[in-house]
Amino acid sequence: MQRYRIALVGGDHIGPEVVAEGRRVLAAFEREGVCRFEWQEYPWGAGHYLRTGAAMDADAIDRLRGCDAIYFGAHGDPARVPEHVTGQGMLHRFRKELGLFVNLRPARLLPGVASPLREPGDIDLQIVRENTEGEYSGMGGRLHVGTPLELGMQAIVVTRAGAERTIRFAFELARTRRRQLTCVTKGSALGQVMGVWVDVFAELAAEYPDVQSERVNVDAMAMYLLARPAAYDVIVASNLMGDILSDLTAGIVGGIGLAASANLDPTRRNPSLFEPIHGSAPDIAGQGIANPIAAIRAAALMLDWLGEREASQRIDAAIAEVLAEGTVRTRDLGGTAATTKMTDAVLDKLGTVDS
Ligand code: IPM
Ligand code: MG
Repeated sequence: MQRYRIALVGGDHIGPEVVAEGRRVLAAFEREGVCRFEWQEYPWGAGHYLRTGAAMDADAIDRLRGCDAIYFGAHGDPARVPEHVTGQGMLHRFRKELGLFVNLRPARLLPGVASPLREPGDIDLQIVRENTEGEYSGMGGRLHVGTPLELGMQAIVVTRAGAERTIRFAFELARTRRRQLTCVTKGSALGQVMGVWVDVFAELAAEYPDVQSERVNVDAMAMYLLARPAAYDVIVASNLMGDILSDLTAGIVGGIGLAASANLDPTRRNPSLFEPIHGSAPDIAGQGIANPIAAIRAAALMLDWLGEREASQRIDAAIAEVLAEGTVRTRDLGGTAATTKMTDAVLDKLGTVDS
């Protein structure tokens, strides 16, 4: 039986709560004899920073390299720790130093889930977000801190190789779907960096004549995604633009309580990282009311990447059934169900219980 070594970084507040639910679902496949998981837990995050002065251990990245995948919860304690400590200091380091250059964010409107849009149509799209550079290069700094001369500067960096590997992934993904790719840009204002991005896009479009491709400015894209989201298939965007648009697409298909993402190293040299796209939500932490579906879906994305496609599809199907029935719903979906009850419902559809 295949064994997978999974690094578990639950993080802060609801992070550990929701990944515990994902683990319950993964355990169902161990009981069935499909595969086994060896978990290595790391206590990193804002809490670790408050305890030790560092969000994670100095050798954290090297320790992660030895695993098959990373299952990540959510990080941050904004009332007590500056947000960049865990954002840039932890999550972005994972993404950059492990070369997780694709952040894949599926958005699909399932039966039983209410969209805030009046006529959402059949939304089924995937955002491919560049994940290691762009607006998030982290290059820059602050000067004359706390004085009237204070300056903050951060560079936007688009490399040809960085754009190429991400956009190529998006074209390949489009080939497995409806063969449509939309490239998000803002050439009118960011002509230098986006110039590289759109040149690479145009070159690759010529290599993939079977994929219908177009270029759209990010501001217009935000409007089109509200006006006609069902028209889109695969969308490729720079780091920050993909970040913003993927919260928008999560919002129109049921909210961030349902949205998962895969941070991938398509070369498979390093372990990829799977996480819900929501944050640590301190306001609802410790009450047992967070929606575990995003984290469970992240677990499904992880199984798919590990090659356990059937198990992954079974989780997605179980979630779809639970949502279509609509009898068990957490608060974000307009219900009253506890976190664990939502997972129980998914396990029930998988035909298993864990207690
Ligand atoms: C995300 C998050 C992070 C990001 C934050 C928490 C730094 O919003 O993964 O979408 O923008 O990279
Ligand atoms: Mg985000």
